[in-house]
Amino acid sequence: MTPHISAKKDEIANTVIMPGDPLRAKFIAENYLSDYKLVNEVRGMLAYTGDFKGKKVTIMASGMGNPSMGIYSYELFKFYDVENIIRVGSCGAYSSKLKLFDVLLVEKTYSESTYANVQSNNSEIYKYSSKTLNSKLLKSASNLGHDVKSITAHCSDVFYKEKNKFKILLQKYNCSCVEMETFALFHNAKVLDKKAAAILTVSDSLVTKEETTSKEREVAFTKMMEIALNSLI
Ligand code: HPA
Repeated sequence: MTPHISAKKDEIANTVIMPGDPLRAKFIAENYLSDYKLVNEVRGMLAYTGDFKGKKVTIMASGMGNPSMGIYSYELFKFYDVENIIRVGSCGAYSSKLKLFDVLLVEKTYSESTYANVQSNNSEIYKYSSKTLNSKLLKSASNLGHDVKSITAHCSDVFYKEKNKFKILLQKYNCSCVEMETFALFHNAKVLDKKAAAILTVSDSLVTKEETTSKEREVAFTKMMEIALNSLI
């Protein structure tokens, strides 16, 4: 038990797949796991542990933003001895080369967030995902016949901006999309000597202003969930 997770230590698997949304965690458990059990509902941050093709796995929501992801990933790595966390989430496209529903693997993430500095006096602006997890995810995608693009993400602390200067982030830092959780996740993994990765699906485009409906997202997002789950096998 931790301040934010009520599961017993042995109720959390070695590998945790983390969507942002608790209801997406429920969807993944109900549609892909067998013998699953709800192991956390503190603050509605649902976590389910069950079996995927013979492997024990936990699906737990991270909530939105670096502070929330920072708390849950730290507690999972540090107090539940979790080794691997794979984020599955949505992102907005900064680049015109990305289309709605494209599936992306985050090789590195750029952020102006103070998370790493406050957490451990670390001023690096890029954080990297695990090469080991990334190669498993790419192999899983290729086995399933799904196309995945490796990219640099912008991990923003702010969703609603009075002026969105995303073109600068694309040009200067090569960020082709934006999301809000990878920086804290990758930083915690590094500090605690664990592994983290993230696969994202493009849900909207800041270039074309296109958006997806929640119904469309429910169906389209299954690709990245299947890639993450099958990477465990
Ligand atoms: N901004 C930040 N995070 C996001 C977005 C966005 O436009 N779309 C999906 N996640």
